[in-house]
Amino acid sequence: MTNLKNKIVFITGASSGIGRSSAIKFAELGANLLICARRKERLEEVSKEIALRYKTNVHSFQMDVRDHQEVERSLNGIPAEWKNISVLLNNAGLSSGFDTIQEGAIEDWEAMIDTNVKGLLYVTRAVLPGMIERKEGHIINLGSVAGRMVYPKGNVYNASKFAVRALNEGMKMDLLGTPVRVTTVDPGLVETEFSVVRFHGDKERASIVYKGITPLTPDDIADAIVWAATRPAHVNINEIVMMPVDQASPMMVNRKSN
Ligand SMILES: NC(=O)c1ccc[n+]([C@@H]2O[C@H](COP(=O)([O-])OP(=O)(O)OC[C@H]3O[C@@H](n4cnc5c(N)ncnc54)[C@H](OP(=O)(O)O)[C@@H]3O)[C@@H](O)[C@H]2O)c1
Repeated sequence: MTNLKNKIVFITGASSGIGRSSAIKFAELGANLLICARRKERLEEVSKEIALRYKTNVHSFQMDVRDHQEVERSLNGIPAEWKNISVLLNNAGLSSGFDTIQEGAIEDWEAMIDTNVKGLLYVTRAVLPGMIERKEGHIINLGSVAGRMVYPKGNVYNASKFAVRALNEGMKMDLLGTPVRVTTVDPGLVETEFSVVRFHGDKERASIVYKGITPLTPDDIADAIVWAATRPAHVNINEIVMMPVDQASPMMVNRKSN
């Protein structure tokens, strides 16, 4: 088993959902948490919760992964004792809008590509050289079943998650010969703020996505992430694909009425 006690785990998008749950699960294992997102107050709540429940250190900072300069500045500026990152969870991501290509909003497309693809690259580029130098590290990317199967109106979100899967495969190849591990975790429906964000704050529309099914929880995904991160050092879990029992593909769900 890889022991994460006192190791540094860096999670992007830890202010909510899967990132937040993962921060708590890694803290349970005694890891020190470096967490970022855009919403500072939400990060502070997560930090407080961890500090209250576990004897680990948390360092949180506001960072928008879409901004290359901000990513470089923030990661260069983290205190020296936080620089030796053992696990990077590239979790920050979103879907924005649910329209056909012919009706899609350019700003939604930019938000998804800039966050899910370019943001993931910026953060990885800043963190990986240190892992290679220290001969220790694990990159865990949040993909999606949307990166394996396209669905109507999923278009640009699908493309961004297909890109995450390609990058995950590419990282695995480029890191061959180093001890750095690479994993993609690709969930189906997980109830988080994801759908509220997709529907631009429309909570009622978002709730319909999970109506009549038992979706995955952020803790379910965090369990899988922590499992992959704690395998023995010679074991690389390349891909984890997981769906609720009530789902068979992005569009096939078993919805019970009432
Ligand atoms: N929920 C699902 O059904 C599902 C399924 C498959 C894959 N995923 C993937 O899982 C990941 C986490 O999503 P979630 O379901 O946990 O949704 P969520 O609850 O909306 O969480 C998304 C997180 O990403 C952060 N984030 C978004 N844009 C950011 C930016 N530009 N810079 C920094 N942080 C940013 C958000 O924080 P701030 O808003 O505070 O910045 C938030 O902490 C995403 O990559 C998503 O695509 C989700």
